[in-house]
Amino acid sequence: VARYVLPVRTIDWNVDEVVIIDQTALPAAERVVHLRTVDELVDAIRRLSVRGAMALGVAGALGVALAACRADEEGGNVRQAAESAAAKLVKARPTAVNLSWGAKRVAALAAGGRSAMVAEAIRILEEDVTANRAIGERGATLLEGRRRILTHCNAGALAGTEWGTALSIIRVLHERGAISEIFVSETRPLLQGARLTAWELGQMGVPHRVVVDGAGAGLILSGRVDAVVVGADRIARNGDVANKIGTVAHALAARRAGIPFIVAAPESTLDPDTETGSSIEIEERDPNEVLCFAGIRVAPDGSSALNLAFDVTPADLVTAIVTESRVIYPSADYILARP
Ligand code: MRU
Repeated sequence: VARYVLPVRTIDWNVDEVVIIDQTALPAAERVVHLRTVDELVDAIRRLSVRGAMALGVAGALGVALAACRADEEGGNVRQAAESAAAKLVKARPTAVNLSWGAKRVAALAAGGRSAMVAEAIRILEEDVTANRAIGERGATLLEGRRRILTHCNAGALAGTEWGTALSIIRVLHERGAISEIFVSETRPLLQGARLTAWELGQMGVPHRVVVDGAGAGLILSGRVDAVVVGADRIARNGDVANKIGTVAHALAARRAGIPFIVAAPESTLDPDTETGSSIEIEERDPNEVLCFAGIRVAPDGSSALNLAFDVTPADLVTAIVTESRVIYPSADYILARP
């Protein structure tokens, strides 16, 4: 493990293997994991060792390349291995469209063999870094003067490769001296806000406080928040946004308070094949994630739980979607065709 000195990229390619920061261990430990097979990667995706829409897009891409490398070394059918890896990866988690986008983009080059697929996967990784940085610049300009921001879940470097989306905007605003305070919604049940976003903001030296998920609406309505900025896992053709469970409550409060609700996401998160949010598959996870806290059962033995990992914010509550190439105003630009 000592081969890498942190900070490393959230997910990276190293010769013929995938390297990730194990996000389940953060913030207690900065653990780096080396993955050599698609099954290991699928398992890491399911456990949320690697998570967040853009990181999943890169994982899909690198996963297919990984399968191509193993098949090539073992004298197997590289093309078949790539296609079956893509099918496995797409099924690992259903909501973030980036996962299938990345896997399919690399598998489409299967006829070109291992080197074509590895090159494409690395291109996707590099594009993610540039796209995220561009989202940061564009979003920061849009949000000028809004010094107190609430964010939900983790749309930071850990959800991508180096920058993230919502946190890329916050990082650029901070570099411009334009942030007073960030409210970090803890994001039950897996605490991506309290564990990951707070950790990233701490690394950047951005002033922040963690709040419980239920605090968001009250803070917004009492005038203590100037804007809500979040990421997205899939954006339907009509502008409906799937993001971490709890997001829509912040959007409703933002509308009532008259502050902007901004979604920051790369173009690869726009899904022109999904008409509206109601056809987005929402991942349902293990009820024990809700019934327990830090591994200890808190709900009574007889109770069960509904553990939906995402919700959908209707397009009309979204002030703007910031991508690497444009700002979309969903109520005006109602149909989100790709540029
Ligand atoms: O279940 P997760 O942690 O993968 O969910 C992540 C989110 O909901 C993020 O907010 C989203 O991916 C946008 S940031 C890329």
